[in-house]
Amino acid sequence: MNDHQFFFFSFLGLAQNSGLFGHHMDFPWQANADFKARLSRLFGCHLTSVTCKLLALVTIALFFRAVLLHSFSAYGVMEWNNLDLILSRSLLLNSDVGIRRDKFLKVPQIVWGLNNQKIAFARACLTARMLNRTLLMPSLSASLFYKEIYRLQPISFDKVFQFERFNSLCNGFVRLGRYSDLKNQTPVYDLQKGSGRKWTVERDLEQLKQSSRGPVDKYEVIRIVGKNPFLWHDHWPVKDYARVFECLVLVDEIAKEADRVVSKIRQIGRKLRRKTETVQNNFDAEGSSLPPAPYVAVHMRVEIDWMIHCKNLEQRSGISQICSSKQEIMERVGNIVGLEFPTVVYLAVADSLLNDSSVLGGWKKGLHPFEKKKLGVDGIYKKHPYLIQSAIDYEVCSRADVFVGNSFSTFSSLIVLERTQKMIRMGITSSCDIDVRWPSYAYNIPGESNSPQIWMTNMSDSSLKAISYGSNAISC
Ligand SMILES: *[C@@H]1O[C@H](CO)[C@@H](O)[C@H](O)[C@H]1NC(C)=O
Ligand SMILES: *[C@@H]1O[C@H](CO)[C@@H](O)[C@H](O)[C@H]1NC(C)=O
Ligand SMILES: *[C@@H]1O[C@H](CO)[C@@H](O)[C@H](O)[C@H]1NC(C)=O
Repeated sequence: MNDHQFFFFSFLGLAQNSGLFGHHMDFPWQANADFKARLSRLFGCHLTSVTCKLLALVTIALFFRAVLLHSFSAYGVMEWNNLDLILSRSLLLNSDVGIRRDKFLKVPQIVWGLNNQKIAFARACLTARMLNRTLLMPSLSASLFYKEIYRLQPISFDKVFQFERFNSLCNGFVRLGRYSDLKNQTPVYDLQKGSGRKWTVERDLEQLKQSSRGPVDKYEVIRIVGKNPFLWHDHWPVKDYARVFECLVLVDEIAKEADRVVSKIRQIGRKLRRKTETVQNNFDAEGSSLPPAPYVAVHMRVEIDWMIHCKNLEQRSGISQICSSKQEIMERVGNIVGLEFPTVVYLAVADSLLNDSSVLGGWKKGLHPFEKKKLGVDGIYKKHPYLIQSAIDYEVCSRADVFVGNSFSTFSSLIVLERTQKMIRMGITSSCDIDVRWPSYAYNIPGESNSPQIWMTNMSDSSLKAISYGSNAISC
């Protein structure tokens, strides 16, 4: 975060918390004593001093500039990042309350796909929260060799997500700690998680409750012994998971890679538009600064492995709307109401499909499909291990103006959860309207006139089960 963003961000936190955007829009220079006190604390100086006043005014000016620049750019494209910034919680307030800092929970290495790892991580955080303990920063896995333990390539959490940012965004809710925080004064308590059919949700919950009091609670470190947290029983509502996910911010190095991919997509989109405008109006838009072009992202699961998996799933579950063929996906995406043509369609596909020209052909006129190879960004991906590649694709999809995925995919489901949450924070509560900003769709479920069904996460669901394992109940 640069200084500009920092001040903007801090000021917003203050503004929100002092009701600046409430019914009467107070301006800071007429603000009350409490607000002044907070502002003073923020800048670490007295508001009476000239420097400090100046600092405050500059901040306020930057803030309004940022709001004006970002919120009202033409073509209605609002940058995802900036919204994130606007809506993020303040990191400066209530820093003393919350999770204990001298008691810790340790969990096994987190494995499997990016999204299973995210869910497992959140589950570890929520377990720690239940025990009122700081979670010792766990290892994620950079590779996907889940059957060959020795090839799991542990990667520290803070190589992927920002550690400090996580703690400030999740302040008071869950907390991550480093091994250097340990005092090692008491031996570690091993908490064995059960498994198998006899290990019910109730038994699991009872075990956690018991560990949160009495003699076990005296240990500095509780170490959970058992399989991947993704397999642990779920005791928490979707809202709690969402609260943890929103604190996961990619480290700058990876975020920059995602930025590069997104700007490449938008750049191509701009060129496509310029071409059509030139043809239509016979005027040359060259030189004029064109606004960023919107794009559609489709998480297209049509590779052989998935097709086998989803056919099995269809048979086992008796649900027929899990698999979609290439043709079905292309046709449904083409039927989405309100798409502006021409537009770039970013295809998030498995690497095995990068040489398969059939995913690029057959799209409706005006939709221009690109995958990472055709975009010329595969070099960006190739530099990184599996987990990071997946994180970049995730980012590109979640920032898309329109996202289309499969409701039986964890990857798609987590993207829709994040998009739903952003919409809710913008004040859209449970709208399944097609003209919401950042709509998401499930192509495996047909909607009106064979368009994909509009899709929002049910944030009041009592467990994450639907998201972890897929569902065709997608709230809309
Ligand atoms: C954790 O413990 C602290 C200190 O005892 C307390 O203030 C806080 O409310 C507890 N938090 C939770 C989530 O139980
Ligand atoms: C795609 O084709 C290129 C050359 O045509 C080859 O080098 C590359 O390994 C192929 N990629 C995949 C994923 O099959
Ligand atoms: C969302 O989940 C809650 C709790 O499970 C349920 O009562 C409600 O009907 C669901 N809403 C929708 C729109 O599916």
